Amino acid sequence: MLIHLSSWPEIDARLKDTKTVIVPIGSNEQHGPTGLLGTDWMCPEIIAHAAEKTDDSLIVAPTFNIGMAQHHLAFAGTISLRPSTFMAAITDWVSSLSRHGFERIYFLNGHGGNVATIEATFSEIYAEWSFVEEQPPMVLKLRNWWDLPGVTGLCNRLFPTGHGSHATPSEIAVTQAAYPDRIKTADYSPKIAPSGPIRDALDYRARFPDGRIGSDPAQASPAKGQEIIDLAAAALIRDVAEFSAEVRP
Ligand code: NI
Repeated sequence: MLIHLSSWPEIDARLKDTKTVIVPIGSNEQHGPTGLLGTDWMCPEIIAHAAEKTDDSLIVAPTFNIGMAQHHLAFAGTISLRPSTFMAAITDWVSSLSRHGFERIYFLNGHGGNVATIEATFSEIYAEWSFVEEQPPMVLKLRNWWDLPGVTGLCNRLFPTGHGSHATPSEIAVTQAAYPDRIKTADYSPKIAPSGPIRDALDYRARFPDGRIGSDPAQASPAKGQEIIDLAAAALIRDVAEFSAEVRP
């Protein structure tokens, strides 16, 4: 069940059986000369929606599509939150969902730059709950889609060289499978992009002139993307089932 395509009575009824909700979360930021700006929120959304199609007991929230992208702001089309705004927004999403009876909130993340701030937000939220004697029966979880069991192994087999860490062939392939009419091409130079540290926007643009880090996205194809989606969606279904079955001590 997708929340944005449901009515409130439908969600109300489903909350009697299911207390878990998946929130795809990512970022809108440059992904090299051919990658879609939405890549980091589209990948978790594509995987979560594929899982929901297979297993309609899953409830998927609207995608949280803007994150921590300050280092990409020297590239057009990037939209970023500052850490404090991002934390406040995640907290309000959690409060809204828990208000209705969701007790387990599973964030499926598509952007490495979000991880530290999401974890810090969880710490803030848990602290708020711990300060009162009557705590809500809530559990939060963060999972990067590439950390779903088996996914990194598959990506390494599909792309043994030039995977890199930004505008990777695996994330580009996932978007190509879902949006085949939006595939773009370019002559990459160099073929495999440079690697290095991530700092501020101007430093990033100087180090990584076309936006890629360590990657060769020309290796991406819709077929490889579909293989990743199928494996990740199946792994997500198992991971969410385990999360839902975890007993709170
Ligand atoms: Ni990305």
